[in-house]
Amino acid sequence: MTTPWGELALARFPEDPRERLRAWDASDEYLLRHLADQETSLSGTVVAVGDRWGALVTALAAHRPVQITDSFLAQEATRANLERNGVETGSVRLLTTQDPPPDRVDVLLVRVPKSLALLEDQLLRLAPAVHEGTVVVGTGMVKEIHTSTLRLFERILGPTRTSLAEKKARLIFCTPEPSGEPTANPWPYSYTLPDGIGPVSGRTVVNHAGVFCADRLDIGTRFFLQHLPVTKGTRRVVDLGCGNGVVGTAVALADPEAEVLFVDESFQAVASAKATYKANGVPGHAEFRVGDGLAGVPAGSVDLVLSNPPFHSHQATTDTTAWRMFSGARRALRPGGELWVIGNRHLGYHVKLRRLFGNSRLVAGDPKFVVLKAVKT
Ligand SMILES: C[S@@+](CC[C@H](N)C(=O)[O-])C[C@H]1O[C@@H](n2cnc3c(N)ncnc32)[C@H](O)[C@@H]1O
Repeated sequence: MTTPWGELALARFPEDPRERLRAWDASDEYLLRHLADQETSLSGTVVAVGDRWGALVTALAAHRPVQITDSFLAQEATRANLERNGVETGSVRLLTTQDPPPDRVDVLLVRVPKSLALLEDQLLRLAPAVHEGTVVVGTGMVKEIHTSTLRLFERILGPTRTSLAEKKARLIFCTPEPSGEPTANPWPYSYTLPDGIGPVSGRTVVNHAGVFCADRLDIGTRFFLQHLPVTKGTRRVVDLGCGNGVVGTAVALADPEAEVLFVDESFQAVASAKATYKANGVPGHAEFRVGDGLAGVPAGSVDLVLSNPPFHSHQATTDTTAWRMFSGARRALRPGGELWVIGNRHLGYHVKLRRLFGNSRLVAGDPKFVVLKAVKT
């Protein structure tokens, strides 16, 4: 990436030589160019929210910025990118969306996230630290910035306008007008699950901002809940890409002897899964882990993996994560262990499962979704 201060070598995490997606985009470059052209003072506490792969904080490392991210992958990418560019990791304070934000923010840089809810939550959490002199600049691709995005900045921080578009990217300029009154934060948001979905029928689900389908039960997840395997006895089960944890909680409620590991790369998701589990007073054993798929789970140690894999990375459609999840499951499962997957019919997951496991069985299907099962032989 070319910055006003030189070239940076950047990669996504995990690095995949076949992956052609870059670790930065025109909106990162536009923001950095703007800061240099305007000779923006970067003294005091500089905070970068939603920096996708660490491009912003790596470029601004000399100003000892704070990065706030919901993504484990983004945090790992940042660490690796700092090292790749010879920057000491300690130059950047790496915070997650679950950590308390800094008490005072003098420069607030916001890479607009895909989720408006996450943006709302982040701005509300940061608002008390923002003062009249805080420089607030948002950035994103034109297609990611909507009237609703600008309204959020206006409502939470103060008057907001946008720049002209450059290379399909746009900047957001906001002049903070702190009211002194804290605004209520609607997140986390809890709701009661509908009937007809097995052990979690009528139960509570807790969602931190930005979590997959945070305000209602996803129709795919609903279909999955209606077709989960029913077995009893001590088993090690993984809810892979757990989101709000509704799937793993269903297994734990049905089978109190199951040990459930909830994994997600989103800090908000793992916090939601923990809260959902706790809200339902589930008996038994559970572990909650922020991480990349099944990395770190010992080979041959798991009996059952359940997953509704993501097929987006930010705005891009990709099956890279699903592939990694399936091959990770194959490694983590014991012989005879099973991977159960829900997916849109058109994604053709059965082809991948057959290639990796040598088998794939249709457990249930409707015109839109399929539940598939692959057994480790
Ligand atoms: C389609 S959502 C499913 C959420 C939940 N299981 C449900 O059905 O409601 C996919 C989840 O995978 C998570 N995810 C994406 N990449 C991941 C990775 N590399 N490792 C672990 N989780 C990941 C996302 O954060 C998201 O919560």
